[in-house]
Amino acid sequence: MRKPFICGNWKMNLDRASAVTLAQATAKTAARLKGVDVGVCPPAPYLEAVAAAANGSPLIVGAQNMYFEPSGAFTGEVAGPMLKDLGCACVILGHSERRHVFGETDDLVSKKVKAALGFGLVPILCVGELLEEREAGRTEAVVRRHVTKGLEGLAKAQAEQVVIAYEPVWAIGTGRTATPQQAQEVHAFIRGLLADLYDPRTAEAVRIQYGGSVKPDNSRDLMSQADIDGALVGGASLKADTFAAIVTEGAKAKGL
Ligand code: PGA
Repeated sequence: MRKPFICGNWKMNLDRASAVTLAQATAKTAARLKGVDVGVCPPAPYLEAVAAAANGSPLIVGAQNMYFEPSGAFTGEVAGPMLKDLGCACVILGHSERRHVFGETDDLVSKKVKAALGFGLVPILCVGELLEEREAGRTEAVVRRHVTKGLEGLAKAQAEQVVIAYEPVWAIGTGRTATPQQAQEVHAFIRGLLADLYDPRTAEAVRIQYGGSVKPDNSRDLMSQADIDGALVGGASLKADTFAAIVTEGAKAKGL
């Protein structure tokens, strides 16, 4: 069965001391709820300090981005082997802010996903439609393109390791969450697509997180849905108590 995975995306927030304090508190949450994989993705400069704070606990540490080349003349970029070196187990790729603020293409995201697996990092591949795309009835077409391109060239055994985060862009940081039904519909669509691209067994193995204004009061309803295997949490992951409540409610939804 799929182990739920709830991960905080701290984005470009906090300072070193508050990052360490938050990581220490979240490590306690991870230790208390062992049935759920609990992770945090701090800003790159704080990865080492957060990994040290998480050391000896089940808290998973991840990065928010990486470049696909292992090293070289790529000023300002961070390489996968460097993230491994700092203690990262996973990396968020293709987040909507990377796609829409920094112009990342499906092609670039696809190279990053493949490279991350090669470096031994679990990619959290973010997919999701803009508001105008949803209103134009193009949600499935957009999500199909993001998933298909994001997994392009991966063998079954590689695809199984990828975590997909469905994040409707209109729900990110807006307080406007997708209803559990809206989210489940897209999650089921993604699982069906994975069965077409690979096979039903692979589709059943892949974890699909929901992201976009996840809060303690909607975590249980969202995670009660059959195809929602966890959450990628932005704003609400910056407060230890709030994030702990999201994890606690998510665990209850899965009967843990
Ligand atoms: P949010 O962000 O929870 O603040 O909406 C989610 C994300 O961007 O991953």
